[in-house]
Amino acid sequence: MDLSPELWKALLAASRQDWTRMESWACEVSGGRIEFFSGGRWHCSHPLDTEQSRALDLLSPLATAPDSFCMAQLGQSLDGRIATASGDSYFINDKVTRRHLHRLRGLVDAVIIGAGTAIADQPQLTVRHVNAPNPVRVILDPSGRVPMKGPLFEDGRDSPTTLHLVGPGLKPVRAGEHVRRVVIETNEEGFEPANVIRLLEEFGHRRILVEGGGVTVSRFIEAGVLDRLHLLIAPLLIGSGPPGINLPVIERLSQVPRRTMRAYPCGDELIVDMAMHQR
Ligand SMILES: NC(=O)c1ccc[n+]([C@@H]2O[C@H](COP(=O)([O-])OP(=O)(O)OC[C@H]3O[C@@H](n4cnc5c(N)ncnc54)[C@H](OP(=O)(O)O)[C@@H]3O)[C@@H](O)[C@H]2O)c1
Repeated sequence: MDLSPELWKALLAASRQDWTRMESWACEVSGGRIEFFSGGRWHCSHPLDTEQSRALDLLSPLATAPDSFCMAQLGQSLDGRIATASGDSYFINDKVTRRHLHRLRGLVDAVIIGAGTAIADQPQLTVRHVNAPNPVRVILDPSGRVPMKGPLFEDGRDSPTTLHLVGPGLKPVRAGEHVRRVVIETNEEGFEPANVIRLLEEFGHRRILVEGGGVTVSRFIEAGVLDRLHLLIAPLLIGSGPPGINLPVIERLSQVPRRTMRAYPCGDELIVDMAMHQR
């Protein structure tokens, strides 16, 4: 499942429109015209192949969301692991699926990771596999244990902004033009995910991707604040290592909400798109 550069450009342009005010938006593409509708439907004046159609089906709801949204992703093995026991997660997914992750980054305003991922991976969280602007990078670090160095804290002329969210007791710091440490209230579980989303909205970031790791994504699921979850499933059985999703124990299956999901083949991997609101 992939998108041509031209259709990606059209989708990205659609995502930059003000969907709080419009029902549809169209642009010319070679051979005709493509129109996007609020909520995710799209129509192209000429037939597209299955790959392109699937990619548009998967991504258009994000590009044309009329309100703020918060989604999460996890790249995982078939047995639900997101890294080996030693913390190695580069790379669970192959390049086509990683390109999907970079498209998600390109469509959102801000990407959130937990302190564990910031320390273990020292990721850049920039968009490199497709053409798109970089999102703001957000680190959830209530005790301030993430060292303020490495790619996330670089402060070059073109560096994307990094918001380092820490708990009370730590000092807010402006560590350069692009790096800001912001203090946010905690409860016994850390930051309330809804408060994190509210803070980002106050900064003007209304489309949010929670990129990992498992602890962070699980807390956002538990708090009921996610609109969608993308599981990027690779044909691996790791058999040990951190699980993607880990939620409080539930007694009865009948208490587990049944979600709506669609699966999209992506090379020899699978992207599962789940709507996180209960039916
Ligand atoms: N395959 C993938 O898609 C993927 C994606 C990302 C990471 N990874 C892998 O996952 C591993 C790390 O994941 P992880 O689950 O151990 O850690 P993580 O989710 O990256 O970080 C967890 C930590 O972040 C902080 N945190 C998260 N949510 C918070 C909240 N609501 N309030 C306050 N603090 C919050 C807490 O820090 P404190 O402990 O300081 O309170 C928490 O312990 C690494 O091996 C990485 O390579 C895989």
